[in-house]
Amino acid sequence: MLNQNENTSERKKDHIDLCLNESVVFNNKTNGFEKYDFDHFALTEIDYNKIDLTTKFFGKKIKYPFLISCMTGGTGEAKNINSNLAIVANELGIPIGVGSQRQALEDSTFHESYKIIKQNANKVPVLGNIGAAQVACLISNDTIKYLVDLIEAEAMVIHLNPVQELFQKNGETNFTGLLKKIKKLTREINIPFIAKEVGAGINRKAARLLIENGIRGIDIAGAGGTSWSAVEMKRNNSEIETEFWNWGLPTSYCIKETAKLKKKNFFTLIASGGITNGFELAKSIILGADIAASARPILKSIVNNGVDATISEIDKMFENVKKVMYLTGASNIKELKKTRLIKKEELY
Ligand SMILES: Cc1cc2nc3c(=O)[nH]c(=O)nc-3n(C[C@H](O)[C@H](O)[C@H](O)COP(=O)(O)O)c2cc1C
Repeated sequence: MLNQNENTSERKKDHIDLCLNESVVFNNKTNGFEKYDFDHFALTEIDYNKIDLTTKFFGKKIKYPFLISCMTGGTGEAKNINSNLAIVANELGIPIGVGSQRQALEDSTFHESYKIIKQNANKVPVLGNIGAAQVACLISNDTIKYLVDLIEAEAMVIHLNPVQELFQKNGETNFTGLLKKIKKLTREINIPFIAKEVGAGINRKAARLLIENGIRGIDIAGAGGTSWSAVEMKRNNSEIETEFWNWGLPTSYCIKETAKLKKKNFFTLIASGGITNGFELAKSIILGADIAASARPILKSIVNNGVDATISEIDKMFENVKKVMYLTGASNIKELKKTRLIKKEELY
C-alpha cells in the first residue's frame, strides 16, 4: 500500500470539475484529421444495411471499434459517473477503462467508485489503470495484481503523463527505471498491458520500446483534444504558458507513425485525443488504428445529458461511420482499414 495522500481524491475531483466547466482543450493545435479527406468510391456495391461495425479487442468481440477512455475513480462523485459510463459501455457492447487506481492503494474509502464499473459492465472488457510514476517506483508486482483483482480487469493500462506531472502541483517527475518495471510487469502478470498517453501523444520510438518490453496495446492519446498541462495550469491558478498548453504530437500524426510498427509487430493500436465525431473516428481507423477512444466528450455527455442521450450520441457517431464506409466501399472494419485518405493539398 502507498502512504496516505490526502490530495489524490481532491485532485481527481478537481480534474472532473475543470474538465466539465473550463476550456481545457488545445487552443493552437488540432488533432490533424481536418487535413485529410476520404477517397469517395462511386462504384460502391455495399448494402448499407449489411455493414458490420463489430471488431475484436484482445480476442473479445465488441460491437463498435470504440472504447470509453480511462477517466475517473477515487473520489465521491466518481461512483455515479462510473456507474453511468459502465451502463453505456455495457449497453453498447464496447470496452471501458477506469481512472487511475492510485487512490485505491491509499485506502478503501472509494473502492466502490472503481468496482461499480465491472458490476454494471459485466459483458464487456474492463481496463484497470495506473500511472507511470507509480509503476516506476513499484516495489512489488503484487500491488498491480491487487488493482487488477479489485476491478476484475481484463487488461491493465499504464498512463504515461510527463507533461501533466510537470505542471501538477507536487507532480511526480521521476520516471527513472520505468521501462524495466514495465518489462517485469508484462512478463509476470498474465493479462495484456496497454500503455497510453493522456493527450500529448506517443511517438514511434516510445511505441517501439513499449512493444519490445511486452506492451500489447498502445493508445497514442495525441494532441488536439484535452490538454492536461492546461488542466493543471488552471488548477494551480498559475501563469498560462501557451507553448506548453499546446505541447504534444497531433493524434493523426501519432497514429500514422505508430502504425508503421505493425509491419513487424502484433499489437492493438488505439487512437484517441480529441476524437469527437464519426468522421474523425473513421479517419483514425483508415490511418492505422484498430479502435478509437474518447474521454472528455463522453464525460461531458454523461454528466450533462445522461445515459440514454450518451448512448444515442455514440450510436449516431457510428451511423456516420457507417455512411463513410458505404461511400468508400467498405462493408466491415477490416475493409475500412484498406481504404485510403487523401491529403487535402493533393485535392486542389
Ligand atoms: C476527467 C478526466 C480524468 C482523467 N483521468 C485519467 C486517468 O486517471 N488515467 C488516464 O490514463 N487518463 C485519464 N484521463 C485522460 C483521458 O483518458 C484521455 O487520454 C485524454 O483526456 C485525451 O482524450 P480526450 O481528448 O478524448 O479527452 C482523464 C480524462 C478526463 C477527462
